Amino acid sequence: MSKSYDIPERVLERAYIKPGDYNELYEESISNPDKFWGRLAEEFISWEQKWDKVSDCDYSKAQVRWFEGAKLSVCYNCLDRHLETRGDKTAIIWEGNEPGEVKSYTYRDLHREVCRFANLLKAQGVKRGDRVAIYLPMIPELAISMLACARIGAIHSVIFGGFSADSIRDRILDSTCKLVITANQGLRANKKIPLKDTVDRAVDGLDCVEKVLVCRRTDADVTMKEGRDLWIEEQLQNMSAECPCEIMDAEDPLFILYTSGSTGKPKGVLHTQGGYLLYTSVTHKYVFDYHEEDVYFCAADIGWITGHSYIVYGPLCNGATTLMFESIPTYPDAGRYWDVVSRHKVNIFYTAPTAIRAIAKEGREYVDKYDLSSLRILGTVGEPINEDAWLWYYEVVGKKQCAIVDTWWQTETGGILITPLPGAIPTKPGSATKPFFGIKPCIVDSDGNRLEGNNVSGYLCIERSWPGQMRTVYGDHQRFFDTYFSQYPGLYFTGDAAMRDQDGYYWIRGRVDDVLNVSGHRLGTAEIESAIVHSGVVAEAAVVGMPHDIKGTGIYAYCVLKNKDSGDEEDLQKIKEAVREVIGPIATPDCIQFVPGLPKTRSGKIMRRILRKIARGDTEDLGDTTTLADPSVVDQIIAGSKTVKR
Ligand code: WTA
Repeated sequence: MSKSYDIPERVLERAYIKPGDYNELYEESISNPDKFWGRLAEEFISWEQKWDKVSDCDYSKAQVRWFEGAKLSVCYNCLDRHLETRGDKTAIIWEGNEPGEVKSYTYRDLHREVCRFANLLKAQGVKRGDRVAIYLPMIPELAISMLACARIGAIHSVIFGGFSADSIRDRILDSTCKLVITANQGLRANKKIPLKDTVDRAVDGLDCVEKVLVCRRTDADVTMKEGRDLWIEEQLQNMSAECPCEIMDAEDPLFILYTSGSTGKPKGVLHTQGGYLLYTSVTHKYVFDYHEEDVYFCAADIGWITGHSYIVYGPLCNGATTLMFESIPTYPDAGRYWDVVSRHKVNIFYTAPTAIRAIAKEGREYVDKYDLSSLRILGTVGEPINEDAWLWYYEVVGKKQCAIVDTWWQTETGGILITPLPGAIPTKPGSATKPFFGIKPCIVDSDGNRLEGNNVSGYLCIERSWPGQMRTVYGDHQRFFDTYFSQYPGLYFTGDAAMRDQDGYYWIRGRVDDVLNVSGHRLGTAEIESAIVHSGVVAEAAVVGMPHDIKGTGIYAYCVLKNKDSGDEEDLQKIKEAVREVIGPIATPDCIQFVPGLPKTRSGKIMRRILRKIARGDTEDLGDTTTLADPSVVDQIIAGSKTVKR
């Protein structure tokens, strides 16, 4: 077991929660959750009307409800209420694609822009409860349009800029979005991303989409469809900077965010107003030990849950200065994050292990060039962090003076569930350590028995609800129940494996279902397989994960070709192209092997266990293969795997 690291002195000095406080507060949060969350709800949120009941949850019905009867405006909490005391404080620092391309918005500026945008949405007929799709790069308009939706009670569905036209179309259709917000182009390092063209293909022939609003990020001209498409800049000029906040019920939807699961198409994870805002603001304050004067930089993309919760809603609800970063960690070189940190005097920095690995491999000179003395807290999220990457982050970036917070959570959980608290919990590299307040993790074996005590491994579940938990799968409540509550009655099933060590620390081992975590992006193997078959050259495909130095998990695809045994370069290109078209470049396989057949049981089930081992290069002991319909196929796959391009 790796060694544990004490809390650095300068972290300890300022921390809200000190070593002795954690156990006591945790006990209280578990023994009387309603009292605990009720107290925090009074402290963190301005309510228009108080609740009748703090929580009303029943996993046997997949029912999750918090603060019912209460009313609030999320946008008011993130903007208006700060105007009096923090009107001139910077709310958003935006660092563009080019180093030093900076724009800042005070809370007053942001309030004005959000009001104008909200009025624009209203002028285009968007009403409370309508769904709005947002397909934007990391520009201020992304945060502004989300808050504008919240202000008028519309439900946003942000779609990550790396998804293809087909993916956008599926998402728009699933939640029947009436309006789409995009930009003419996006900028990422040296590339221009044709966002508007992609949206044009996505919405072509869709009846539900009435309007497409377009930001001008570059000079590029794009085709504007008469009667449907409008330039945002031009429209905003006529909009008033005053717009009242729509007052919402605590359990009204706030947003939908699609995420991949084991089977079928991505699910629309639905989060609501009150509980989500409370949970993200409370965790933002305590997990990052956020103080009023801190500059906070979460380097995630807002297209994923991390950006929703910890760039936009949590920090703004707390009146923080939050930094939005448009570029990538290696542009113009591997020192970019540290350049940003030193110029903006960032105190809290939050990124993914994949980014840490990518820049660590370029050498420490990219870090040492910059003055990083402002840093106090360093966070990671998205995948297990390997010890080397953790130590590099701790020593080279943090100079052993910063707390590392390895935060475990999911799109479904809304906010962080297992994490160190910087001032209270000594860390161990690779462990997300202890549950946050109100969270009761449990580890079960495959029969659903709860494994009590320490030194146990199994499936990670959560026993009771917390305010940030998702409420349903949009339009399919049965799927919500089936996916999370049917396996182990009375528990929320996370899909991850975990170990609890002798000190009660949690070690997340990764997914146990058919979800891959590629560079911190969540992808379903079923989705990738169906995209591969879409290429037309493949009869059947099986996709598994394989270890990858930078991405954490790479994509390994076994493909059975139609009408022939061996494929050529053209087939490879067709397969990759199909995946890019159906899902997006993030899902492109790292490794494609043509195989004569897939290892299937007599009942026709693909034995993925074997395929995972072969992809790892671990072909010595494949376990029991006697139940296979045709065991000889395994030898052929092994032989082929030795020559495949990796
Ligand atoms: C994985 C991202 C280990 C995990 C916020 C989870 C992690 C999935 C960690 C959710 C961590 C996230 N250590 N694994 N600190 N954080 N994961 O929905 O497998 O994009 O189930 O949410 O990422 O990914 P999602």
